[in-house]
Amino acid sequence: MSKVNVEIENNVAIVYMNNPEKRNALDEEMSKDLLDNIKALSKDDSVYSVILTSSNDIFCAGADIKEFAEGIELTALEHYLKKSIDVDVLRIVDILNKPLIAAVSGYALGGGFGLVSNAHIVVSHPNTRFGMPEINIGILPYVIFPYVKKAIGERNATVLTLTGKVIDAQEAYRIGLVHYIEDNPLEKAKDIASKIASKSPMVLKLLMDCLNADRAHESDYLALLRIVNFSAKDLKIGVESFLNKKKPQWQGK
Ligand code: COA
Repeated sequence: MSKVNVEIENNVAIVYMNNPEKRNALDEEMSKDLLDNIKALSKDDSVYSVILTSSNDIFCAGADIKEFAEGIELTALEHYLKKSIDVDVLRIVDILNKPLIAAVSGYALGGGFGLVSNAHIVVSHPNTRFGMPEINIGILPYVIFPYVKKAIGERNATVLTLTGKVIDAQEAYRIGLVHYIEDNPLEKAKDIASKIASKSPMVLKLLMDCLNADRAHESDYLALLRIVNFSAKDLKIGVESFLNKKKPQWQGK
């Protein structure tokens, strides 16, 4: 069964992430499914906007930490060649080039926070928790950083990255990550999408070009820094600690 399902209705596509055993972590399979669907939707002229949501009660727990364990064994070249999937999935808004609305519940952590930051409009359930806990396992949210900075500003992005702090929906609203807090985020997202569908597709396209200018170079550079981080002993220590539910003993290398 696919880890991503799509429904299209009234010029709006709803993309459901569906990887519940891993709390919707972006493993290679789900990332590929998500990217394939986003690429197809980007070419579908009948789709004016896309809602990204989850088919279960968690939006997304970020990158697959178990796959990180395998990533530690790869060479820099192997990472570079593989990066298109695990990097591109964190910049779907640029690939889609259409308005992207996130309808979020449960948790949006790490790459999940990145997907939320990709979205132009974010509707959250009141109980959702948001954060970038990557630093706790010895890595940083490299690829998503430009999107996060754009969404909440550099200083908010820095404090959340440095502390790995998890915030609630009200705090996410206060810093500008979330635009609406609703008991039924998907219904609100559909309502917003139907309003977008009444606008000129030409103007929507030009707006996307305005918003997406200038980000690609920064994102590529950060993708390279991420590969450097994969060769660090501390990432190995952090991943093993997460999987064994222990506190990491950092070595600083
Ligand atoms: N990657 C891989 N597997 C993950 C995962 C991730 N990002 N997040 C959760 N899982 C897995 C857990 O390893 C666990 O697997 P198991 O059943 O084989 O032990 C399963 O999903 C359930 O996780 P658990 O922690 O028991 O669920 P929870 O509901 O108590 O907590 C989270 C949910 C999302 C808060 C918690 O899993 C978490 O903090 N995940 C890590 C988030 C993170 O650090 N993301 C950034 C990655 S760089």
